[in-house]
Amino acid sequence: MSQDDFLPLRGYDHVEMYVGNARQAAHYYQKVFGFTPVAKMGLETGIRDRASYVMQQGNVRFVLTSAYGPDHEVTRHHALHGDAVRTVALEVRDVEASMAAVRQRGATIEQATEAFEDEDGVIKTGVIRYAGDTRIKFIERGNYRGTFAPGYKPIEARPTEPAGLAAIDHIVTNVYLGEMNYWVGWFRNILGFSQLAHFSDDDISTEYSALMSKVMENGTGKCKFPINEPAEGRRKSQIDEYLEYFQGPGVQHIAMSTGDICATVRRLREQDVDFLRVPDTYYADLRDRVGDIDEDFAELQELGILVDRDDDGYLLQIFTGPVQDRPTMFFEVIERHGSRGFGVGNFKALFVSLEREQERRGNL
Ligand code: FE2
Repeated sequence: MSQDDFLPLRGYDHVEMYVGNARQAAHYYQKVFGFTPVAKMGLETGIRDRASYVMQQGNVRFVLTSAYGPDHEVTRHHALHGDAVRTVALEVRDVEASMAAVRQRGATIEQATEAFEDEDGVIKTGVIRYAGDTRIKFIERGNYRGTFAPGYKPIEARPTEPAGLAAIDHIVTNVYLGEMNYWVGWFRNILGFSQLAHFSDDDISTEYSALMSKVMENGTGKCKFPINEPAEGRRKSQIDEYLEYFQGPGVQHIAMSTGDICATVRRLREQDVDFLRVPDTYYADLRDRVGDIDEDFAELQELGILVDRDDDGYLLQIFTGPVQDRPTMFFEVIERHGSRGFGVGNFKALFVSLEREQERRGNL
């Protein structure tokens, strides 16, 4: 770790989403994605204004929150953005020191350090503003033994059969045209992150998918935040579509890692996860593109899993469709074999194979 890592992050702690109906969203994440509900807050725990469900699978933790009334920050956020990520929580050893460091570097403070206590100990948090209405929360839980946080009670239920999702790999944000470099600088200056330049191939991605992307990561590489902005392309940018329906910048996708992507995707497909369709033409020259891999090409094709290779190794990935009616947030499942990239090669390969299909239909 370099001497200027003034913000040692232990990793992603959780992601909180504001949703229209937290009870039903919890059911969806349980039955479709294999999360176990582990804790809850709401009327029965003495919280009068909102309900939250903590969903856990491996080290991935989502908090799903809805408010009980119309005149509430959660309800207004939901009216504007739909079901959406409000907070990305990062675990730190010392919230006070972290907040002091980012404040001094110019972060916009949304909530100064606060301590929350119950019989299981103390949790400290501090919150800063990030892109659009998204925020980053620092959380210190070294002195807490409870299930999640004060105010929550554990849910005593039989654990859900997991789908193999193990950890959050990266969290991608969409911003307006011309703002990407601002946020690159923000991560560098405020949080001390650096750019993974090698994997931000904006030339290739511009031509084929009408987006520009740069990846910022912290000193340990545990927290990775790619940032996308729209670019002039041959088609309407998917980033423009997101920004229009989300009503501004926000989290586009959360990538979750697995140790066995074929088993995970098979399970998720059985549970009705809606993955993006990959044309068979994508697989026609896959072996030539990526060389030898441990997985069976026929199984990857059957399941619609994508492969990308770079100097360090390869990765396997697949994307879901949007998980709400607005074409906004979706998920990615990823398995890394050495590669630290994000699948830039798949932009081109997917585009080319889609064109090949169009050609076959006589529409090109
Ligand atoms: Fe991704």
